[in-house]
Amino acid sequence: MTVSIVAFAGSLRADSLNRRLIANVPVLAPQTLDVAVFDDLAAVPLFDEDLEATRPDGPGAVYALRLAAGGADGLLIATPEYNQSVPGVMKNAVDWLSRPDGASVLDGKPVAITGATTGPWGTRYAQKELRHALTAAGAIVMPQPMLFVPNAEAAFAPDGTLTDPALRSRLVGLLSAFERWIALLSAAVGPVAVEA
Ligand code: FNR
Repeated sequence: MTVSIVAFAGSLRADSLNRRLIANVPVLAPQTLDVAVFDDLAAVPLFDEDLEATRPDGPGAVYALRLAAGGADGLLIATPEYNQSVPGVMKNAVDWLSRPDGASVLDGKPVAITGATTGPWGTRYAQKELRHALTAAGAIVMPQPMLFVPNAEAAFAPDGTLTDPALRSRLVGLLSAFERWIALLSAAVGPVAVEA
C-alpha cells in the first residue's frame, strides 16, 4: 500500500532551514511513501473572514493548499520558531486549512510535525504551539517520535542536502513512523471523509 503525504514548511525565506528540511523529505522517504511538497505559502493571503465570505473556495493558493492537503493521507509540517511560538505564516496556513467550519481538511487528518532553528532548543515551543492549534482544528498529531532540529545551519550542505548523519537517520525514522502510524489510523477508522 502506498501512503501519500503533503509536506510543507512555515517559512517564506529563500534560504529557509525549514524549507531545506522539507526539500530533503522526498529523497529520504521510504519508497512506499509518496511525498508531494507544497511550497507556495508566499501566495496564501492573510486569513480574513470577509475574504473567505466572498471566495468560499479561497484564493488560488489557498485552494491549491486545501486540495493538496485534502487529497493526502497525511501532512508533514516543519515550523520555524519566532519568539517561542509559530511564525504568522505558519499559523495563517493552519487557519486557512481549518476552514470552512465543519468541512476542514484538517478534521481527522494525520499530521506529523518537526522544525528547525538556528538556536539551541530546536523549535520546542513552536512545535508545542503548532500541535495545540492543529489539535484544536481536529487534526490527529502523531505523538512520537518528535524531531527537534537545533543549530540547523550546520546540518546542510550549500546545495541544501541534509548531510548531518544523525539528523538524516532521525528524519528517516520519523517518516517511517509516520507511514506506519497513518496506516494504523486508516485501519482503525478508515480513510477520513470530508463533507463538501
Ligand atoms: C527567531 N528565531 C528564533 N529561534 C528560536 O529557536 N527561538 C525563538 O524564539 C526565535 N525567535 C525568533 C524571532 C524572530 C522574529 C526571528 C526572525 C527569528 C530564529 C529562527 O529560528 C531562525 O531565523 C530560523 O532560521 C527561521 O526559520 P527558517 O526561516 O530558516 O525556516
